[in-house]
Amino acid sequence: MTAQTASLAVNGGPKSVTLPVPAWPVVGEREVRRMEEVVRSGKWSWLGPHETAFCREYAAFCGTRYCIGLANGTVTMQCALQAVGVVPGDEVIVPGLTWVATAQAALDIGADVVLVDIDPETLCIDPKSAAAAITPRTKAIVPVHLYGCMCDMDAILALARTHGLKVVEDAAHQHGGIWRGKRAGALGDAGSFSFQQSKVLTSGEGGAVITSDPEVYRAVFALKQVGWGPTPEAAAGDDWAAPALEPANRYGHNYRITEMQCALLRGGLSRLEEQTRVRDENAQYLAERLRRIGGPLRGARRDPRIERQAYYALTLYYDAAQAGGLPRKGYAGALCAEGVGVWTTYCPVYRAPLLNLYDRTSPVPFRDPARLQDYKGLRLPNVEKAAEQTALVLPHTHLLGSRDYLDQLVAGIAKVNDNLAEARACFEKGN
Ligand SMILES: Cc1ncc(COP(=O)(O)O)c(C=O)c1O
Repeated sequence: MTAQTASLAVNGGPKSVTLPVPAWPVVGEREVRRMEEVVRSGKWSWLGPHETAFCREYAAFCGTRYCIGLANGTVTMQCALQAVGVVPGDEVIVPGLTWVATAQAALDIGADVVLVDIDPETLCIDPKSAAAAITPRTKAIVPVHLYGCMCDMDAILALARTHGLKVVEDAAHQHGGIWRGKRAGALGDAGSFSFQQSKVLTSGEGGAVITSDPEVYRAVFALKQVGWGPTPEAAAGDDWAAPALEPANRYGHNYRITEMQCALLRGGLSRLEEQTRVRDENAQYLAERLRRIGGPLRGARRDPRIERQAYYALTLYYDAAQAGGLPRKGYAGALCAEGVGVWTTYCPVYRAPLLNLYDRTSPVPFRDPARLQDYKGLRLPNVEKAAEQTALVLPHTHLLGSRDYLDQLVAGIAKVNDNLAEARACFEKGN
């Protein structure tokens, strides 16, 4: 490609992307009408018609027997882990790169979190690293389908089978993805979803657990419903989404979802399949265009076992060596100035200020230091390289753009690639 004459936007030149980022969330008149009906109905929570209908619809969409709506995608993880049998003192294997809530959920129920390394390109848990971390205390593995990739679920499920472990998928980024015929979240013993504002299925806040195991369903239900679970007859029958209740001998809390949230979710769910298809098609288009223009940025490897990739964000790999050593920060800054709004990733979980896991003054509930993984000394090379040098992600809203919009994104990337010396000079000047 010939060098372009216009100087980079980071250097005062014109921006490549002039079309607006597609708006999110998307809502239709049906949701607005339903919200008004809910408000007027006076039934705002506690197994109302929209909660019941949404749980049925989402379970059917995911291909599981059950779906339980909860307050957010952190308590979903807590309840799912408890429901599969994790108790205080058990070890739970979690990738070292994820949103802190994945680890917090396990810590909050008294488990010891063992952080393991990731695949450097897909940013998902590395099955070999998970295998090496298994001890007699390991109870569960949490594969997190991060950003725009799915974990190698064949390897994770095989590992779990061999060692008698439970698998709880954190599918907060993966509503609608399909791995060899099965939806994300439906592959393990339980799947956890977040419906927080930025997610591809959203009600502002909210979450759900899906499972086909009646015992896991009964336990999650009671854990979110202050200890009241479905009667065995209700759990086995067709009324599982609004069941008859009885005390379930579980130390549950109020983690309920509301009717307003479920009214919104039903609208979002009616659009999810088509939006996922569009994002998947556009992500493949972008990855192919990046491959053709060459340069330091490319799409992450796509596993051929993925039939439908859902995207919280498109996962990208940046190779500074192909950019004359320009650090990722300088490259990303130049892209953002062009209007290509890439993000860096979450920080490594063991470096998250919130958890401050390795410090004895940490606000995390006390754990016996003798039993804890040495977070302070922990080095997970792929996690650190991805978080500090190689990973960039493009949020999912961009993937709903028109072809013209996508072409502007590609033009912005090509422009930065063609003017790397200028980008470097700007970065060194602190622009
Ligand atoms: C991977 C992952 N897991 C769990 C969560 C927690 O979800 P929530 O914010 O709904 O509690 C999030 C939220 O961003 C997430 O990204």
